[in-house]
Amino acid sequence: MGFNILGKSVETLTDDLVYSLFLTFMIKDYYINKNFKSIWGKKILQWYHSNKRDLPWRKKNNQNFYAIWISEVMLQQTGVKTVIPYYKRFLKKWPNLDSFFKATEDEILFLWQGLGYYQRAKNLYKAKEILKKIKLEIEPDVLKKLPGIGDYISCSICAILNDKSSAVIDANIKRILTRAFDLDIYNNKYNHRLKSLATKLTPEKNNRYYCQSLMDLANLVCKPKKPLCIICPINDECLTKNNILSKLRVKKIQKKKKIGVSIYLKFKDKFAVETSRKRLLQGLAGFPITNFIELKNNNKIVKEQKLLINAWLKKHRLTESFKNCGIIEHEFSHFYLKLLLVQINLRRKLQHQDFKWLTKEEFEKRPRSKLMNKVKEKLM
Ligand code: ADE
Repeated sequence: MGFNILGKSVETLTDDLVYSLFLTFMIKDYYINKNFKSIWGKKILQWYHSNKRDLPWRKKNNQNFYAIWISEVMLQQTGVKTVIPYYKRFLKKWPNLDSFFKATEDEILFLWQGLGYYQRAKNLYKAKEILKKIKLEIEPDVLKKLPGIGDYISCSICAILNDKSSAVIDANIKRILTRAFDLDIYNNKYNHRLKSLATKLTPEKNNRYYCQSLMDLANLVCKPKKPLCIICPINDECLTKNNILSKLRVKKIQKKKKIGVSIYLKFKDKFAVETSRKRLLQGLAGFPITNFIELKNNNKIVKEQKLLINAWLKKHRLTESFKNCGIIEHEFSHFYLKLLLVQINLRRKLQHQDFKWLTKEEFEKRPRSKLMNKVKEKLM
């Protein structure tokens, strides 16, 4: 009878140990041999064929450059669930590149309302204006010259459309590789190692499915907070399996708290809408806003509000008094915002290059951000 420790025979434990050591020394050293790559790829693809998500951009008639481009742009900074209705509306309005050529920037922004990161919509507009004039070659280096297309989107389009064997690395795929190979995100070679690993593991064939398998695996199994290691198809190959929670290899960003003031500047039945290129408004229609300051002590909020608004009034040479209209809270990717709302009734119309004067009905027709929708709901 053999020796047993924790219900496993010594032979099995020795095998496990040797295998773990192999993984640690060979893989952590980024030595991916053919055998490992083949097992890794096979397991991931097998899992995908029985678990893949049924997503609109995976439908047969959406396997063209235009439809993949739109989906990848939408998905780059937004989750699948949020993207689906936007993607469907987009393709319904502009089913192909020819119809999209006729879109105005405002129309694209209007459809993009609520999806956030509005620069993406503006880049789509700029890129399609360029595409009107050139014959496009679907290669990562060529695509990367278009506005809004970087390493990730260029490689994912080429992989999904032409099965090109180029490493696709988005935040989800980063998470899988970081965990599987126990990469140290604080090491200054982290990005280089990640890219090198991703490149070595990318299959020569079927990358179109492989990259999408990793996306689904990251979403359904290797989740950011509650990874389901027990059902993971590559848990034998993973160096952090089951320890992931104590080694949550995701940089935690401590979001700052900021305050600002939004101004409902009224003159008769119209109010001022800022049209400046302020980063927060990104060219969308919005109520004027002051600068934001970091909130370090909640007690000072009234004092800070007064400072902000007084500076704004001074800048615009206004002497009118203001009335408080409440507070709204909003979460951005990098900070939380408490936005105080104030109303100022003007005695004369203020002429300012940054302001347009609109009625409520006119404002409704302009594309707005989620934040400005919240402000509108509170004020009107
Ligand atoms: N995230 C980015 N691209 C994706 C895709 N094609 N499928 C699912 N999730 C994604």
